[in-house]
Amino acid sequence: MEALECIKTRRSIRKFKEEAVSHDTVNAIVEAASMSPSWKNTQIARYHIVENRDIIKEIADNCVLDFEFNQKTINRAPQLVVVSMIEKRCGYEKDGSFSTSKGDRWEMYDAGIASQTFCLAAHDMGVGTVILGIFDEDKVAKAISLPEGQKVAALIAMGYPNQECEAPKRKTVEELVNYI
Ligand SMILES: Cc1cc2nc3c(=O)[nH]c(=O)nc-3n(C[C@H](O)[C@H](O)[C@H](O)COP(=O)(O)O)c2cc1C
Repeated sequence: MEALECIKTRRSIRKFKEEAVSHDTVNAIVEAASMSPSWKNTQIARYHIVENRDIIKEIADNCVLDFEFNQKTINRAPQLVVVSMIEKRCGYEKDGSFSTSKGDRWEMYDAGIASQTFCLAAHDMGVGTVILGIFDEDKVAKAISLPEGQKVAALIAMGYPNQECEAPKRKTVEELVNYI
């Protein structure tokens, strides 16, 4: 798929077929996501692929702030990706001080770039995804026994699409761009 076509036709997918995405395909998606730019090439994003149905159900039932819409999406997905970030590297100097006034917010910036690259690569391979931001990060970390020194950035429900979606309305270029 051409890059622009991939960018423009990717949609958030919330209904999935039962078939899981193979580890070969997931690994190819992660390899593509590894090419994302990152703060001083720190590459802090990690991808925890949850396939265990009990853990997926635990996250849906108890870790998404009772937001029913996300509970349904997660329960329908064969796999749930927990995107995490290695702490205290991105946005930091070697002595542990912040490099800029944005402090550690570059961590989420990099995790966002990595997540979008993950979703675009998945779309190119026929795999549907939706980024989920409504969750309790401490509860998700506990549910997957996230290693010390990492924080949860986002959830991505993943699987082969079982729906076709129109793009929600976008702002016009005139609304978005400001030439100075
Ligand atoms: C940071 C972030 C958080 C999001 N959180 C949720 C969520 O909790 N639940 C959900 O169904 N969609 C969520 N979405 C998906 C957006 O609703 C979706 O991207 C937007 O409506 C545009 O649709 P499209 O992705 O199909 O272009 C999130 C997207 C982003 C980038």
